[in-house]
Amino acid sequence: AADDKFVLEIPKVELHVHIEGTLTLNLRWKLTQRNGTILRLVPNGPELHSLEELHAAMDSIMPDSSRMNNDEERDMFFESYFEGFQALKTEEDYYDLAMNYFEHAASMNVRYCEPFFDPQGHTSRGVSWSNMMDGFRKAQKEAEEKLNIKSSWIMCFLRDHSPESATEHYKAAQPYRDMIVGIGLDSCEEDRRPSLFEEVFAQARGDGFKLTMHCDVDQKNTPKHIRQVVSVVAGEGTDRIDHGLNASDDRSLIDLILKRDMGMTICPWSYLRHTTYAKLGQRIRALYDAGIKITINSDDPAFMDDCWILHNFLLAKHLCGFSDRDITVLARNAINVSWAEQSVKDNIL
Ligand code: HPA
Ligand code: ZN
Repeated sequence: AADDKFVLEIPKVELHVHIEGTLTLNLRWKLTQRNGTILRLVPNGPELHSLEELHAAMDSIMPDSSRMNNDEERDMFFESYFEGFQALKTEEDYYDLAMNYFEHAASMNVRYCEPFFDPQGHTSRGVSWSNMMDGFRKAQKEAEEKLNIKSSWIMCFLRDHSPESATEHYKAAQPYRDMIVGIGLDSCEEDRRPSLFEEVFAQARGDGFKLTMHCDVDQKNTPKHIRQVVSVVAGEGTDRIDHGLNASDDRSLIDLILKRDMGMTICPWSYLRHTTYAKLGQRIRALYDAGIKITINSDDPAFMDDCWILHNFLLAKHLCGFSDRDITVLARNAINVSWAEQSVKDNIL
Protein backbone atom coordinates (compact mmCIF):
# COMPACT_ATOMS: atom_id res chain seq x y z
CA ALA A 1 0.00 0.00 0.00
CA ALA A 2 1.09 3.58 -0.68
CA ASP A 3 1.18 4.51 2.99
CA ASP A 4 3.48 1.58 3.68
CA LYS A 5 6.00 3.07 1.27
CA PHE A 6 6.77 5.80 3.80
CA VAL A 7 7.43 3.19 6.49
CA LEU A 8 9.64 1.19 4.15
CA GLU A 9 11.66 4.13 2.95
CA ILE A 10 12.32 6.00 6.16
CA PRO A 11 15.94 5.45 7.27
CA LYS A 12 16.00 3.22 10.34
CA VAL A 13 18.11 2.31 13.33
CA GLU A 14 17.62 -1.12 14.90
CA LEU A 15 18.55 -1.56 18.56
CA HIS A 16 16.98 -4.85 19.63
CA VAL A 17 17.75 -7.84 17.46
CA HIS A 18 19.42 -11.05 18.61
CA ILE A 19 21.77 -12.11 15.83
CA GLU A 20 21.07 -15.76 16.70
CA GLY A 21 17.36 -14.97 16.39
CA THR A 22 17.93 -14.00 12.75
CA LEU A 23 19.07 -17.51 11.80
CA THR A 24 16.42 -18.25 9.19
CA LEU A 25 15.43 -21.84 8.56
CA ASN A 26 16.95 -21.68 5.07
CA LEU A 27 20.30 -20.51 6.41
CA ARG A 28 20.17 -23.03 9.26
CA TRP A 29 19.61 -25.82 6.75
CA LYS A 30 22.54 -24.59 4.62
CA LEU A 31 24.92 -24.49 7.61
CA THR A 32 23.76 -27.87 8.86
CA GLN A 33 24.45 -29.40 5.45
CA ARG A 34 27.84 -27.71 5.21
CA ASN A 35 28.97 -28.88 8.65
CA GLY A 36 27.25 -32.24 8.77
CA THR A 37 25.56 -31.40 12.08
CA ILE A 38 22.39 -32.98 13.40
CA LEU A 39 19.30 -30.83 12.96
CA ARG A 40 16.49 -30.67 15.51
CA LEU A 41 13.96 -28.00 16.40
CA VAL A 42 14.23 -28.58 20.15
CA PRO A 43 16.87 -30.42 22.22
CA ASN A 44 15.17 -33.80 22.51
CA GLY A 45 13.02 -33.53 19.42
CA PRO A 46 13.23 -35.81 16.40
CA GLU A 47 16.12 -35.44 13.99
CA LEU A 48 15.09 -33.49 10.89
CA HIS A 49 16.30 -34.48 7.44
CA SER A 50 15.21 -31.73 5.08
CA LEU A 51 14.39 -28.06 4.90
CA GLU A 52 10.73 -29.03 4.48
CA GLU A 53 10.83 -31.03 7.72
CA LEU A 54 12.42 -28.07 9.49
CA HIS A 55 9.70 -25.72 8.24
CA ALA A 56 6.99 -28.20 9.22
CA ALA A 57 8.48 -28.58 12.71
CA MET A 58 8.57 -24.79 13.22
CA ASP A 59 5.02 -24.42 11.88
CA SER A 60 3.82 -27.12 14.23
CA ILE A 61 4.91 -25.21 17.34
CA MET A 62 3.82 -21.80 16.08
CA PRO A 63 0.05 -22.16 15.66
CA ASP A 64 -0.05 -24.34 18.76
CA SER A 65 1.25 -21.54 20.89
CA SER A 66 -2.24 -20.08 21.24
CA ARG A 67 -3.01 -23.12 23.34
CA MET A 68 0.07 -22.68 25.52
CA ASN A 69 0.18 -20.45 28.54
CA ASN A 70 2.82 -17.74 28.85
CA ASP A 71 5.39 -19.88 30.62
CA GLU A 72 5.02 -22.80 28.22
CA GLU A 73 5.28 -20.51 25.24
CA ARG A 74 8.37 -18.83 26.70
CA ASP A 75 10.07 -22.15 27.47
CA MET A 76 9.32 -23.47 23.98
CA PHE A 77 10.78 -20.31 22.47
CA PHE A 78 14.01 -20.59 24.44
CA GLU A 79 14.35 -24.31 23.67
CA SER A 80 14.06 -23.72 19.95
CA TYR A 81 16.14 -20.53 20.04
CA PHE A 82 19.10 -22.18 21.77
CA GLU A 83 18.84 -25.34 19.67
CA GLY A 84 19.40 -23.13 16.64
CA PHE A 85 22.86 -22.24 18.01
CA GLN A 86 23.95 -25.82 17.23
CA ALA A 87 24.20 -24.92 13.55
CA LEU A 88 26.91 -22.30 14.20
CA LYS A 89 30.51 -23.49 14.29
CA THR A 90 32.97 -21.95 11.89
CA GLU A 91 34.02 -18.37 11.25
CA GLU A 92 32.20 -18.63 7.92
CA ASP A 93 28.98 -19.61 9.75
CA TYR A 94 29.14 -16.48 11.89
CA TYR A 95 29.93 -14.38 8.83
CA ASP A 96 26.93 -15.88 6.98
CA LEU A 97 24.64 -15.33 9.98
CA ALA A 98 25.57 -11.67 10.36
CA MET A 99 25.57 -10.99 6.62
CA ASN A 100 22.11 -12.51 6.27
CA TYR A 101 20.85 -10.09 8.92
CA PHE A 102 22.61 -7.06 7.44
CA GLU A 103 21.12 -7.86 4.01
CA HIS A 104 17.58 -8.07 5.40
CA ALA A 105 18.08 -4.89 7.42
CA ALA A 106 19.59 -2.95 4.52
CA SER A 107 16.66 -3.94 2.30
CA MET A 108 14.39 -2.23 4.87
CA ASN A 109 16.58 0.88 4.97
CA VAL A 110 18.25 0.21 8.30
CA ARG A 111 21.32 2.48 8.25
CA TYR A 112 22.73 1.67 11.67
CA CYS A 113 22.14 -1.21 14.09
CA GLU A 114 23.33 -2.62 17.40
CA PRO A 115 22.75 -6.39 17.24
CA PHE A 116 22.96 -8.56 20.36
CA PHE A 117 25.02 -11.71 20.55
CA ASP A 118 25.05 -14.35 23.30
CA PRO A 119 28.69 -15.54 23.63
CA GLN A 120 27.90 -18.07 26.36
CA GLY A 121 25.67 -19.99 23.97
CA HIS A 122 28.68 -20.46 21.70
CA THR A 123 31.65 -20.93 24.02
CA SER A 124 29.64 -23.56 25.94
CA ARG A 125 29.63 -25.66 22.76
CA GLY A 126 33.38 -25.27 22.26
CA VAL A 127 33.26 -22.51 19.64
CA SER A 128 36.23 -20.16 19.88
CA TRP A 129 35.92 -16.42 20.37
CA SER A 130 37.85 -15.87 17.16
CA ASN A 131 35.45 -17.93 15.04
CA MET A 132 32.57 -15.90 16.43
CA MET A 133 34.06 -12.43 16.43
CA ASP A 134 36.18 -12.64 13.28
CA GLY A 135 33.12 -13.85 11.36
CA PHE A 136 31.01 -11.01 12.77
CA ARG A 137 33.75 -8.47 12.07
CA LYS A 138 34.14 -9.51 8.44
CA ALA A 139 30.38 -9.22 7.85
CA GLN A 140 30.24 -5.90 9.69
CA LYS A 141 32.97 -4.39 7.48
CA GLU A 142 31.47 -5.72 4.30
CA ALA A 143 27.99 -4.49 5.26
CA GLU A 144 29.37 -1.01 5.87
CA GLU A 145 31.18 -0.95 2.52
CA LYS A 146 28.64 -2.64 0.29
CA LEU A 147 25.26 -2.19 1.97
CA ASN A 148 25.70 1.24 3.54
CA ILE A 149 24.78 -0.08 7.00
CA LYS A 150 26.94 0.65 10.03
CA SER A 151 26.83 -1.38 13.23
CA SER A 152 28.22 -1.99 16.68
CA TRP A 153 27.62 -5.08 18.82
CA ILE A 154 25.96 -5.56 22.20
CA MET A 155 27.29 -8.53 24.14
CA CYS A 156 24.54 -10.09 26.23
CA PHE A 157 24.93 -12.30 29.25
CA LEU A 158 22.54 -15.18 29.75
CA ARG A 159 20.75 -14.40 33.00
CA ASP A 160 20.00 -18.06 33.68
CA HIS A 161 23.77 -18.63 33.83
CA SER A 162 25.86 -17.53 36.81
CA PRO A 163 27.21 -14.03 37.43
CA GLU A 164 30.68 -15.67 37.53
CA SER A 165 30.21 -16.94 33.99
CA ALA A 166 29.19 -13.45 32.91
CA THR A 167 32.37 -12.03 34.45
CA GLU A 168 34.52 -14.66 32.74
CA HIS A 169 32.98 -13.87 29.39
CA TYR A 170 33.29 -10.16 30.02
CA LYS A 171 37.05 -10.60 30.49
CA ALA A 172 37.44 -12.93 27.53
CA ALA A 173 35.74 -10.42 25.21
CA GLN A 174 38.21 -7.60 25.90
CA PRO A 175 40.35 -8.28 22.80
CA TYR A 176 37.24 -7.48 20.74
CA ARG A 177 36.12 -4.43 22.62
CA ASP A 178 36.47 -2.13 19.63
CA MET A 179 33.51 -4.02 18.09
CA ILE A 180 31.34 -3.88 21.22
CA VAL A 181 29.49 -0.75 22.29
CA GLY A 182 27.32 -2.14 25.05
CA ILE A 183 26.52 -4.95 27.48
CA GLY A 184 23.07 -6.52 27.76
CA LEU A 185 21.23 -9.20 29.71
CA ASP A 186 18.85 -11.70 28.13
CA SER A 187 17.51 -15.28 28.25
CA CYS A 188 14.99 -16.67 30.71
CA GLU A 189 14.06 -14.13 33.39
CA GLU A 190 12.31 -16.44 35.82
CA ASP A 191 13.80 -15.89 39.30
CA ARG A 192 16.74 -14.04 37.73
CA ARG A 193 16.51 -10.45 38.87
CA PRO A 194 18.77 -7.89 37.15
CA SER A 195 20.65 -6.97 40.34
CA LEU A 196 22.24 -10.44 40.43
CA PHE A 197 24.53 -9.07 37.73
CA GLU A 198 25.26 -5.74 39.35
CA GLU A 199 28.97 -6.34 39.78
CA VAL A 200 29.85 -7.16 36.20
CA PHE A 201 27.61 -4.37 34.93
CA ALA A 202 29.27 -1.89 37.28
CA GLN A 203 32.64 -2.95 35.96
CA ALA A 204 31.46 -2.59 32.37
CA ARG A 205 30.07 0.85 33.16
CA GLY A 206 33.43 1.84 34.63
CA ASP A 207 35.19 0.57 31.51
CA GLY A 208 33.05 2.79 29.29
CA PHE A 209 30.44 0.36 27.93
CA LYS A 210 26.80 1.33 27.59
CA LEU A 211 24.31 -0.87 29.44
CA THR A 212 20.91 -2.32 28.72
CA MET A 213 18.86 -5.21 30.10
CA HIS A 214 15.84 -7.20 29.06
CA CYS A 215 12.66 -6.93 31.10
CA ASP A 216 10.47 -9.41 29.25
CA VAL A 217 6.72 -8.86 29.17
CA ASP A 218 4.38 -10.17 31.87
CA GLN A 219 6.96 -12.26 33.71
CA LYS A 220 6.84 -12.85 37.44
CA ASN A 221 8.11 -9.63 39.16
CA THR A 222 8.45 -7.64 35.93
CA PRO A 223 7.71 -4.24 37.56
CA LYS A 224 10.34 -4.94 40.23
CA HIS A 225 12.83 -5.90 37.55
CA ILE A 226 12.11 -2.74 35.57
CA ARG A 227 12.65 -0.67 38.69
CA GLN A 228 16.04 -2.33 39.27
CA VAL A 229 17.06 -1.77 35.66
CA VAL A 230 16.12 1.90 35.89
CA SER A 231 17.65 2.73 39.23
CA VAL A 232 19.65 0.03 40.96
CA VAL A 233 21.93 -1.80 38.59
CA ALA A 234 25.47 -0.40 38.56
CA GLY A 235 24.43 2.33 40.96
CA GLU A 236 22.73 4.55 38.42
CA GLY A 237 20.71 2.13 36.35
CA THR A 238 21.19 1.13 32.74
CA ASP A 239 21.09 3.40 29.69
CA ARG A 240 18.20 1.63 27.93
CA ILE A 241 15.54 -0.94 28.74
CA ASP A 242 14.80 -3.82 26.38
CA HIS A 243 11.04 -4.49 26.21
CA GLY A 244 9.80 -3.22 29.61
CA LEU A 245 6.26 -2.96 28.28
CA ASN A 246 4.81 -3.48 31.76
CA ALA A 247 5.95 0.04 32.67
CA SER A 248 2.87 1.21 30.75
CA ASP A 249 0.70 -0.05 33.64
CA ASP A 250 2.58 1.88 36.34
CA ARG A 251 2.70 5.68 36.39
CA SER A 252 5.61 5.75 38.86
CA LEU A 253 7.74 3.64 36.51
CA ILE A 254 6.85 5.83 33.56
CA ASP A 255 7.91 8.87 35.57
CA LEU A 256 11.22 7.26 36.54
CA ILE A 257 12.00 6.34 32.93
CA LEU A 258 11.10 9.85 31.79
CA LYS A 259 13.19 11.44 34.49
CA ARG A 260 16.23 9.48 33.37
CA ASP A 261 15.31 10.04 29.71
CA MET A 262 15.90 6.35 28.94
CA GLY A 263 15.16 4.71 25.63
CA MET A 264 13.03 1.59 25.45
CA THR A 265 13.29 -1.02 22.72
CA ILE A 266 9.86 -2.34 21.80
CA CYS A 267 9.39 -5.45 19.63
CA PRO A 268 5.66 -5.62 18.88
CA TRP A 269 5.63 -8.97 17.13
CA SER A 270 7.22 -10.64 20.16
CA TYR A 271 4.23 -9.73 22.31
CA LEU A 272 1.47 -10.88 19.98
CA ARG A 273 1.26 -14.31 21.45
CA HIS A 274 0.94 -12.97 25.00
CA THR A 275 -1.92 -10.59 24.61
CA THR A 276 -4.75 -9.14 22.56
CA TYR A 277 -4.20 -6.60 19.80
CA ALA A 278 -6.21 -3.99 21.68
CA LYS A 279 -4.24 -4.34 24.93
CA LEU A 280 -0.93 -4.37 23.09
CA GLY A 281 -1.81 -1.24 21.12
CA GLN A 282 -2.85 0.52 24.33
CA ARG A 283 0.36 -0.35 26.13
CA ILE A 284 2.69 0.77 23.36
CA ARG A 285 0.59 3.91 22.86
CA ALA A 286 0.71 4.72 26.60
CA LEU A 287 4.52 4.72 26.61
CA TYR A 288 4.63 6.77 23.41
CA ASP A 289 2.04 9.28 24.60
CA ALA A 290 3.86 9.69 27.92
CA GLY A 291 6.83 10.92 25.89
CA ILE A 292 9.16 8.00 26.49
CA LYS A 293 11.66 7.48 23.67
CA ILE A 294 10.39 4.13 22.49
CA THR A 295 11.88 2.43 19.43
CA ILE A 296 10.56 -0.31 17.14
CA ASN A 297 12.61 -3.47 16.59
CA SER A 298 12.41 -7.10 15.47
CA ASP A 299 13.92 -9.19 18.36
CA ASP A 300 14.04 -12.69 16.80
CA PRO A 301 12.69 -12.53 13.23
CA ALA A 302 13.47 -16.15 12.33
CA PHE A 303 11.33 -17.30 15.26
CA MET A 304 8.56 -14.80 14.68
CA ASP A 305 7.02 -15.75 11.36
CA ASP A 306 9.94 -14.12 9.49
CA CYS A 307 8.89 -10.65 10.62
CA TRP A 308 11.75 -8.15 10.46
CA ILE A 309 11.94 -4.49 11.46
CA LEU A 310 9.68 -3.28 8.65
CA HIS A 311 6.89 -5.68 9.69
CA ASN A 312 7.25 -4.53 13.28
CA PHE A 313 6.91 -0.89 12.23
CA LEU A 314 3.82 -1.74 10.20
CA LEU A 315 2.34 -3.70 13.08
CA ALA A 316 2.97 -0.82 15.50
CA LYS A 317 1.38 1.56 13.03
CA HIS A 318 -1.76 -0.52 12.77
CA LEU A 319 -1.96 -1.34 16.49
CA CYS A 320 -1.48 2.25 17.63
CA GLY A 321 -2.78 4.23 14.67
CA PHE A 322 0.58 5.94 14.22
CA SER A 323 0.73 8.65 11.55
CA ASP A 324 3.72 9.22 9.29
CA ARG A 325 4.73 11.94 11.73
CA ASP A 326 4.65 9.42 14.58
CA ILE A 327 6.68 6.97 12.49
CA THR A 328 9.26 9.73 12.02
CA VAL A 329 9.34 10.31 15.80
CA LEU A 330 9.92 6.58 16.36
CA ALA A 331 12.73 6.50 13.79
CA ARG A 332 14.28 9.59 15.37
CA ASN A 333 13.96 8.10 18.88
CA ALA A 334 16.09 5.16 17.74
CA ILE A 335 18.77 7.50 16.40
CA ASN A 336 18.74 9.51 19.64
CA VAL A 337 18.91 6.58 22.05
CA SER A 338 21.41 4.63 19.94
CA TRP A 339 25.03 4.51 20.98
CA ALA A 340 26.37 5.56 17.60
CA GLU A 341 28.91 8.33 17.33
CA GLN A 342 27.36 11.75 16.83
CA SER A 343 28.71 11.99 13.28
CA VAL A 344 26.84 8.76 12.44
CA LYS A 345 23.65 9.97 14.15
CA ASP A 346 23.78 13.25 12.22
CA ASN A 347 23.77 11.47 8.88
CA ILE A 348 20.81 9.11 9.20
CA LEU A 349 17.58 11.11 8.86
N1 HPA B 1 13.98 -12.19 25.86
C1 HPA B 1 15.00 -12.71 26.54
N2 HPA B 1 15.99 -13.33 25.92
C2 HPA B 1 15.97 -13.45 24.60
C3 HPA B 1 14.93 -12.94 23.86
C4 HPA B 1 13.89 -12.25 24.54
O1 HPA B 1 12.93 -11.73 23.93
N3 HPA B 1 15.20 -13.23 22.57
C5 HPA B 1 16.38 -13.88 22.54
N4 HPA B 1 16.84 -14.02 23.77
ZN1 ZN C 1 15.24 -9.67 22.99
